[in-house]
Amino acid sequence: MTMIQKAMETVAKVLPVSTLDPRIGADGAVGKPMSRIDGPLKVAGAARFAAEVPLPNLALASLVYSTIARGRILRIDSRAAKRVAGVIAVLTHENCPKMAPPPSFMLDPNGIAMSELAVMQDDEVRWNGQGVAVVIAETHEIADHAASLIHVDYERMEPTLEFERALSNAQVPQKILGQPSEVKVGDADAAFTAAPIRIDQIYRTPREFNSAMEPHATTAQWNSDGTLTLYDSQQYLLPSRHTIAKAYGLAEEKVRIIAPFVGGAFGSKGVCDHHFHCIAAARLVGRPVRLVLSRKGVYWLTSGRTLTKQRVALGARPDGTLAALIHTGSIPVASRNSFMEPFSFVTRFMYAADTLTTSQTFVPINIVPTGAMRAPGEAPGNFALECAIDELAVATGIDPVELRRRLEPEKEPASGKSFSSRNLNEAYRRGAERFGWKDRNLTPGSKRQGEWLIGHGVASASHSYVRLPCSARIRIKANGRVLVQTAAQEMGMGTATVQVRHAAERLGVSVDQVTFKYGDTSLPKCPLAGGSNQTASVVAAVRAASDVLIEELLKHVSEDSPLAGIKSDAVVARDGGLYRIDDSSRGETYISILKRSGKDRIQCEADAPPASELLKYSMHSYGAQFCEVRVNAVTGEIRVSRWVGSFDTGRILNAKTAASQFKGGIVMGIGQALTEDAMFDERNGRFMNRSLAEYHVPVHFDVPEIEVMWNDIPDPNTPLGLKGIGEIGITGVAAAIANAIYNGTGKRIRDLPITLDKILLA
Ligand code: MOS
Repeated sequence: MTMIQKAMETVAKVLPVSTLDPRIGADGAVGKPMSRIDGPLKVAGAARFAAEVPLPNLALASLVYSTIARGRILRIDSRAAKRVAGVIAVLTHENCPKMAPPPSFMLDPNGIAMSELAVMQDDEVRWNGQGVAVVIAETHEIADHAASLIHVDYERMEPTLEFERALSNAQVPQKILGQPSEVKVGDADAAFTAAPIRIDQIYRTPREFNSAMEPHATTAQWNSDGTLTLYDSQQYLLPSRHTIAKAYGLAEEKVRIIAPFVGGAFGSKGVCDHHFHCIAAARLVGRPVRLVLSRKGVYWLTSGRTLTKQRVALGARPDGTLAALIHTGSIPVASRNSFMEPFSFVTRFMYAADTLTTSQTFVPINIVPTGAMRAPGEAPGNFALECAIDELAVATGIDPVELRRRLEPEKEPASGKSFSSRNLNEAYRRGAERFGWKDRNLTPGSKRQGEWLIGHGVASASHSYVRLPCSARIRIKANGRVLVQTAAQEMGMGTATVQVRHAAERLGVSVDQVTFKYGDTSLPKCPLAGGSNQTASVVAAVRAASDVLIEELLKHVSEDSPLAGIKSDAVVARDGGLYRIDDSSRGETYISILKRSGKDRIQCEADAPPASELLKYSMHSYGAQFCEVRVNAVTGEIRVSRWVGSFDTGRILNAKTAASQFKGGIVMGIGQALTEDAMFDERNGRFMNRSLAEYHVPVHFDVPEIEVMWNDIPDPNTPLGLKGIGEIGITGVAAAIANAIYNGTGKRIRDLPITLDKILLA
């Protein structure tokens, strides 16, 4: 049976949420597998990405990176570069158009800059790899060549680069993502000390680079009316517009960002320095300028994930229940970095404990500002917590699945809120059955085939649910076609596909009758594609707009229409029109309603209702990751050989794209577990790996057949019963692998990535 057939089998059990949403029935198309509507465009090469938009008079830019980690620029010698035929100009801090510090993610609710510092406005160097000059030329190749001829003299200053040494100056953040940086319930230190079983370990996760297939690219054009247009690779359209507009003192309407296709982003495609380099270059030369980052540029200039050093301490009783749960630690960030990896948050809702402490600190060092990467906080934080729980399972002799069942909290431990829905046990039950957990290896290091030790591991997955303010506009045209508009982002998740089908079912038309217009800041407001919020946010807005639209259509029916005088709650939308519930043979098509009312279109725009569910409930997606690994007893080589991911993520809207999301997250988690390591040279502050040949993401040979499944139990308090699924796939993966490696070899590695040298030396 293929994975898709399995997915369909699961989807057949979609439960009704009709009390929540009368226009989307339990037997509707929403949920069933549907291929991506943008697939043919991408396969044919017809989808135009940010670096592919043709523009007249376009100039190309290339960056010069600093070679010191901290200091001042004394002199930039660009004479040789300027002599190259085809070079138009060289941008440096000496001739850079003015900008204000960009509104940052932390200080401005609509800001998205990862750093609070203006770009190229002074001679200061803050990290090794910072952009210090931009060459603008007639071609990309000329710009690259000329950039290599630029010579920069620096006054060097003593940088802060060593995290462990800087730790003595650790600071407590005021807030992390709007939440307190410390949460305490009871006296966890005292309870830990008094507990009969104590697990107390340090876990480490490395820096990681966001390695989307499409490197960051932007094209900036200043128009004659003073407006700015960006063709950009972008997942935070409106926050980015706000950030850029503010930095240049422009009204938001004067900035337009267009990003219909994005080749992956993972959290890194907001506003980074290269945007300002490109916009400033375009202003300087009075032409549209394109800046496409090399992989090195992506790694040195855009935001990746910071490293973490975490302590998890569990004070337990012999039955596994927790008297104390402590999760603390620290991260290095750039100075004035606006993003704090919230690794301790997962421990605030995951497990029941009599007492709880989570807190985290940071230390500023000289490094590119770090930011979001798929499941920020939860991916590294879950590794520490879920390994610790496995260590407790070993210490108590309790099956790790059973232990987690015993630790299920009734309410969210940190806040006391009720869970909106939490069916983690059901995900464990179904996943364990599919994986064959009962046949797992019970004695660490005892199952061997030739040179290969075989181990089985499990870990919980989780990700928070979020819904943000969103508007949608829906138009029905005289020909019966439906146009749905909102400034959503599609970075490869299946956004457009899910929303087209959702709107089609809601309005009772076929999917090929619906066009979804997104990826443009000129459209109705939509939140960023981040935090796995977008589907819920857009679904709620499309529902609101279509409800208004149906009322509007009913206002336009003729007096002799079978719909005359009928209220919107007395009709169903089907077969391209509206039909009476009390007499399903009576109704009128949209084409007929528009024709008879003499309209060429009827259009409505509406806001989604506020996300009041988030105030009332603790809302998260959950999952259980099961894996088998094979570890070579001679070489230490690690191979993941089997995977089952079983998720509790509310209702699934498209079995096919959802399965891809889960599997993509699991593949990324395998990278986090075994290969990904952004190597920072603490002597000079330079990242040593600067291409995909040196920064290792999993390739096909590293990835086994991955099975994914889901409970499909709708959350009663969300639009359509759905929860976010974009990020949860990566969580639990590294811990499940580390736990399986322990089970296979008897070696507990608490330091990612788990490379063969660590196995051999353990
Ligand atoms: Mo995600 S790290 O919210 O793109």
